[in-house]
Amino acid sequence: MKLPSPKLTTRMRSFIDHAILHAPFWDVCCDHGYVGIKALVSNQFPMVHFVDQVPHIMKRLQTLIYQNRELRSEHQYRLHVCSGEEIDIDVEGTLLIAGVGGFTMKNILNALIDKDHLQCDRILLSPHTDEKVIVEFIISDFFQALYSVDDKKLLTEGKRERPLYILNKKRAL
Ligand SMILES: C[S@@+](CC[C@H](N)C(=O)[O-])C[C@H]1O[C@@H](n2cnc3c(N)ncnc32)[C@H](O)[C@@H]1O
Repeated sequence: MKLPSPKLTTRMRSFIDHAILHAPFWDVCCDHGYVGIKALVSNQFPMVHFVDQVPHIMKRLQTLIYQNRELRSEHQYRLHVCSGEEIDIDVEGTLLIAGVGGFTMKNILNALIDKDHLQCDRILLSPHTDEKVIVEFIISDFFQALYSVDDKKLLTEGKRERPLYILNKKRAL
C-alpha cells in the first residue's frame, strides 16, 4: 500500500516543519494519522505517538501502517486508543493537537497538567473552532508559567485559513 503522503496538505506539512527534530512527536486527535505517518517516514523523530479516541479510526491506521512496506522495522511508533485526556505517560518532544475545538484542546492540556504528564518542549495547536477559548487559556497566568506563546501562523487549507499557535516550554531561570 502506498503512503498517504500525497494527501498531506500545506497545513499538515507545516506541523512537521515546526516540530522539534530528534525528539518524540505526538499526533493527538490524529484521525487519518497522515501527519504522524509523515513524521514517521521522515526518520527525523525517534518515536511517533498517535492518539485518537475512536477505535475504528485507530484500527484503520494500524492496518495502514502494517501494510506499508516503506515503513521499515526501525520506525518506532505507538498507537493510543484513548482520548487525549486519558494519556497516561509523559508527553515529551512535540505535542500536536490539530483539527479539534479549543474546548477539547483546553481539556486535554488541563488533564495532562493535572497528571504531571505535560513534559514536552513544544506544543503546536491548530484549533478549528472555539479559538477564543484556547487563546484565553494559553495566555492565562496559569499556563504562561509553563509555556510561552512564541508565534502564531496562518495556514491556508483550500479556501480556509487555520491558525497555528507555537508554544515553547519556559526554562527555569
Ligand atoms: C477533524 S479530525 C482532525 C485530524 C487531524 N488532527 C487534522 O488536523 O487533520 C478530529 C479527530 O479528533 C478526534 N478527537 C476528538 N476529540 C478527541 C479527544 N478528546 N481525544 C482524542 N481524540 C479526539 C476525533 O475522533 C477525530 O478523529
